[in-house]
Amino acid sequence: MSKENNDLIKNYQRKIKLIKRYNKLYYNDDSPSVTDSVYDKLKKEVVELEDENSFLKKFGSVKNIIGSQPSNKFKKIKHLRPMLSLSNAFGEEDMLNFLKKIKNYLNNKEFVFDFFSEPKVDGISASLTYTNGILTKGVSRGDGETGEDILQNLMTINEIPKEIKKHTDIPKVLEVRGEVYIGKKDFQLIKDNFANPRNAAGGSLRQKDPKDTAKIPLKFFVHGFGIIEPMIFKTQSEFIDKIDKWGFSVNKDNKLVKNIKEIQEQHTSIEKIRSSLDYDIDGLVYKINNLELQSRLGSTSSSPRWAIAYKFSSEKASTKINHITIQVGRTGAITPVAKVEPITVGGVVVSNATLHNEDEILRKDIRVGDYVTIQRAGDVIPQVVSVDKTKRIKNSKKYVFPEKCLCGFPTKKEISKTTKKIDVVRRCTRGYECDFTAREKLKHIVSKEAFNIEGLGKKVVDNFWDLNFIRIPSDIFNLDYSKIEKLDGWGKLSVSNLKKAVDESKSIVLDRFIYSIGIRHIGLENGKILANFFKTPEKFSELFIYKKRANILKNLEVLDGIGDTQIKSIDSFFSNNKNSQIIQSLISVLNIRSFKKITKKGKFSNKNIMFTGGLDKMSRSEAKSLAENNGAKILGSVTKRLDYLVIGNSKPTKKKIEKAKELKIKIMTESDWYKILNR
Ligand code: IVH
Repeated sequence: MSKENNDLIKNYQRKIKLIKRYNKLYYNDDSPSVTDSVYDKLKKEVVELEDENSFLKKFGSVKNIIGSQPSNKFKKIKHLRPMLSLSNAFGEEDMLNFLKKIKNYLNNKEFVFDFFSEPKVDGISASLTYTNGILTKGVSRGDGETGEDILQNLMTINEIPKEIKKHTDIPKVLEVRGEVYIGKKDFQLIKDNFANPRNAAGGSLRQKDPKDTAKIPLKFFVHGFGIIEPMIFKTQSEFIDKIDKWGFSVNKDNKLVKNIKEIQEQHTSIEKIRSSLDYDIDGLVYKINNLELQSRLGSTSSSPRWAIAYKFSSEKASTKINHITIQVGRTGAITPVAKVEPITVGGVVVSNATLHNEDEILRKDIRVGDYVTIQRAGDVIPQVVSVDKTKRIKNSKKYVFPEKCLCGFPTKKEISKTTKKIDVVRRCTRGYECDFTAREKLKHIVSKEAFNIEGLGKKVVDNFWDLNFIRIPSDIFNLDYSKIEKLDGWGKLSVSNLKKAVDESKSIVLDRFIYSIGIRHIGLENGKILANFFKTPEKFSELFIYKKRANILKNLEVLDGIGDTQIKSIDSFFSNNKNSQIIQSLISVLNIRSFKKITKKGKFSNKNIMFTGGLDKMSRSEAKSLAENNGAKILGSVTKRLDYLVIGNSKPTKKKIEKAKELKIKIMTESDWYKILNR
């Protein structure tokens, strides 16, 4: 080969490599490194080279690579009903527990119900709305509350019908939800550009130019619905059958099952054929088939109570522990981690595995130098499951758990106020004063459920921390972007995207804000309850005032869902001067919006209700949610503000009834309760 040709090939390959690197940074790492125009120019050069020297194609070819970078300029659309995620089960025990919880919630131990079992395809979920049979809206899942308008791109998918109006029995409004994915064979053709099929589907769905989306053979199958008006279905299986008839794709391995035995059988049989399917699945989804029961069960803030993803058994592998270190979490919890000889488990190289806590290490007598079995279940961190003691070297020593945090200060094991037992977890209690805890707190602040800052993930937090760009939450909102622009892997475009995301996130609703600041024991749900109590950021800020705090905390006692543990935790959070300073300086850079709970109107509008004792026909949780759906506010203790005390037939608390009588509060018996709700 001539030297000229040789140089040409080298130059060509270098450019192809660069394109792939840019793609990877964009799609996989979510951190684009060049502007659109630099990228497009490079691509044009490669295409020209190919056109002029057709022999080059055997050294690469850019034509199969997606054309341009995905855009983040899609219009945002709020979902009319949130797109939830699923909780996971990893074995029969978890499934039995799932069944038990459902029966408890419905308060019926004898219930027999059908489950609709569906393969869980690993793709990207999307929502399609048909108005009078015409596809009018296509939205990505986004954070579950708000997605992006990707209608044009979804329109390029063959398996998505553009209209279904030739069918006479379609509802006026039909929102179907399903999974966009790429077949395994199709993935083989483009695999050099993406880490996995899921990434490929996600990347191509977010292309700026739908023509680029169309280049990738995406598929779509339906697994659920959002809004349907009028609602014509009674079961999930009926819905899926109809959807099939209307011309959508549904999975051919969907099946109705009745009990744990059939659940297990279906799970085993699909797991056996898993590798022969042309798409990746990581488990089966089991859904209560009856839609009325689904609606009775409702959902928690993140996932429905009526469905679960039963994952396939995790891959295991054997390796050696080289070293044991500790990790500090955002609440100061110390977790021991085994640094193991790197090994591939389920297609991923694992070099860290969690050892859970001190007791677990003692119980399993895990030592440095041991050969252990590790497993990776779903997305969770790999864990050490067992030790092969036959391979242990003679002079190995028992592992001594460090009593100090990585910051050098002593850790503590707390005594639980309720159980009076010593906690299994050791903690560093210095909060923001411990660098290791502080760094994790920042990761929590930027996370999806908190400030949800796109482009500022855990890795970026680590990077910015190491560079001393951020130490406390308010630093995130006062970044020096000119410094970031000079960093490796960052360019003008990615910095301007980051700035935009940070600026947008400054406007936050009170409930999310309360969750974000990371008060121990205050999750998303509690954040909502507290936000509903305080309503405005000004009222919430009164917690900083020492003189007012005790009184506020006293008032929190009546809130349903806020117990002693939460109140003590709020108290200790706000009593800490450093916390106060840090959170106040955060508040000063934000626009915290007041919380408006959409209280439903109904039979109990503006009424405060409390329950005591168990009810015969429904669980306490269902009763509370029914009351709330009828406009009521649930209280956690008997006070003057209470309007009704509902007394269940099983073991009501005498004291509560007496106090209610004393305060002349209306008392409802269980049968009054059913009567009022026409049950
Ligand atoms: S049901 C409210 N069914 O898994 C229930 N989801 O972890 C929401 N998925 O976001 C989904 N196959 O993208 C359902 N047969 C199936 C599914 C499925 C894949 C995805 C979906 C969802 C995620 C939940």
